[in-house]
Amino acid sequence: MIQIERVSKRLNEVNRIGFDAETGGLNRFSFTKEEQQAIDLVTQYMQQAGMSVSIDAIGNVIGQMGQGEETIMLGSHIDTVPDGGRFDGLLGVISAIEVAQSLSENQVAFNKVLKVVAFKDEEGTRFGFGLIGSKAMAGLLTEEHLQMTDADGVSIAEAMQSFDLSPARIKEAEIQPIAAYLELHIEQGKVLESAGLPVGIVTGIAGPLWLELTIEGLREHAGATPMDMRQDALTGASEIIVEIEKMMQQHMPAVATVGKLHVEPNGVNVIPGKVVFTIDLRDIDEQLIAKYEQNILQMAQTIADRRQLKLTYRELQRVKPAQADPAIQQCLAAQIEKRDMPAHYLVSGAGHDAMFLAQKAPMGMLFVRSKDGISHNPLEYTSLEDIEIATHILYDTTVALLTK
Ligand code: GLV
Ligand code: MN
Ligand code: MN
Repeated sequence: MIQIERVSKRLNEVNRIGFDAETGGLNRFSFTKEEQQAIDLVTQYMQQAGMSVSIDAIGNVIGQMGQGEETIMLGSHIDTVPDGGRFDGLLGVISAIEVAQSLSENQVAFNKVLKVVAFKDEEGTRFGFGLIGSKAMAGLLTEEHLQMTDADGVSIAEAMQSFDLSPARIKEAEIQPIAAYLELHIEQGKVLESAGLPVGIVTGIAGPLWLELTIEGLREHAGATPMDMRQDALTGASEIIVEIEKMMQQHMPAVATVGKLHVEPNGVNVIPGKVVFTIDLRDIDEQLIAKYEQNILQMAQTIADRRQLKLTYRELQRVKPAQADPAIQQCLAAQIEKRDMPAHYLVSGAGHDAMFLAQKAPMGMLFVRSKDGISHNPLEYTSLEDIEIATHILYDTTVALLTK
């Protein structure tokens, strides 16, 4: 059966890679040596689980076992946000490998293919554009997307080439429809903790829209320019950011976040001439996202006009909200109830590779309780007891899907 010590040991091993002792956070970004070290470890674990391992055209790591016409896929990601936590993504990969290894050790017979995937760049940290591996599997990654660049001007295409992947071949990563996709992930919110439950069943995933706004004003002398004669790009951006917060407080459970800001020239005695910032806007309803987007852009334009600033914007990524498959939800519920726990349903505010796999498969997600709901933070924590329960349920559900 599931060996929780092995899960714990593997989580610790991978989390030595990209660990920043000063912040306590993890930094594993796509197409870096840290990511490659993590890929090498995950490859070894998959092999130890009895899987054959391949790398697809975008760099997804795919472990495979069993034979048959139908495929059941498990997976998640191994990259992190800046100074990310120990469980976001990685837990889903390690627990899925544990399921595969337990199946081998228990000699469970099934007539389907089981795949476990560590997806390429879910978080979007490096290029401001995430879910790269799952998008490619869904056939939705284009060569144009590969022109997105990181802070040093390196494009995704160039980064791929430095790891011997050919940008011209990304379409080869697209998969045919499969029987099911299942992902275990930490909740990253407080719902399960408030309910006093270790696990929950995801009903749907909110879709993120990422915009980048650029505000241009006039770079001038901070001492010599009177307060009523300025075109300060940063105070303009600040007013817009505060208005976004006020506006979106009227539209809960939708959420909007400005998490990244670039100020030019960033000098103590210079009025900021240019500010670039991102907006991450999410809801479970695609039409509402479009409406809030329009409202935010109109409001930003009004503020820019009044302050004589120039506003331009571009879309970084737009991901459709996804619904979990009712039959997989039921299957998860049956396994949870067998262990004398209630099936608790919840929506995911965070994004997951499952959003794109939902375009190729009936999709399901199992959430595990997060301490204090904290994630994208070195304080992210999920207890080994909860991980053990969740991995057992992932195992039982996978067996049910494989032997259906
Ligand atoms: C990934 O963690 C996301 O929801 O942005
Ligand atoms: Mn994340
Ligand atoms: Mn994640």
